[in-house]
Amino acid sequence: MRIEFKLNGKTTAVEIDPGDRFLDVLRDKLKLTGTKKGCGEGECGACSIILDGILVNSCLLPAFQVDGGEIETIEYISEDKIGKAIIEAFCDVGAIQCGFCIPGFVVASAVLLRDNPEPLEVEIKSALSGNLCRRTGYAKIIEGVKGGSKALKESE
Ligand code: FES
Repeated sequence: MRIEFKLNGKTTAVEIDPGDRFLDVLRDKLKLTGTKKGCGEGECGACSIILDGILVNSCLLPAFQVDGGEIETIEYISEDKIGKAIIEAFCDVGAIQCGFCIPGFVVASAVLLRDNPEPLEVEIKSALSGNLCRRTGYAKIIEGVKGGSKALKESE
């Protein structure tokens, strides 16, 4: 079957099988490998993307459900103002070690800062609760989100 949707601002069509997961379509068919495959079971957040403005785990998303929707991936988010500020702040505070989980954290943080530009720490923790990091630890990542928020405010 063929699905058509907006991908990172461009209308895109792709042939899928009815049982395909959107994560695999993104990585294997559309070659957008910034979205990572971690647990594959909805536990780690490495595969985070935005569907119609909402943060979702693409490993749990049946590809046919994307038909007619609007998808944003890390490739797109990392080029916008919020994404750039988050990535810069993550680098500044040392929030990145192996980097595997970082695309998911950046996507989740971008969704948070779009809705809530100056989040409290508890709100950051809650927004990132679906994302796991096994290297850096969460303190630096939370610091990075705060840094991104501060940089965005200063740039206004
Ligand atoms: Fe999707 Fe872990 S790969 S949540």
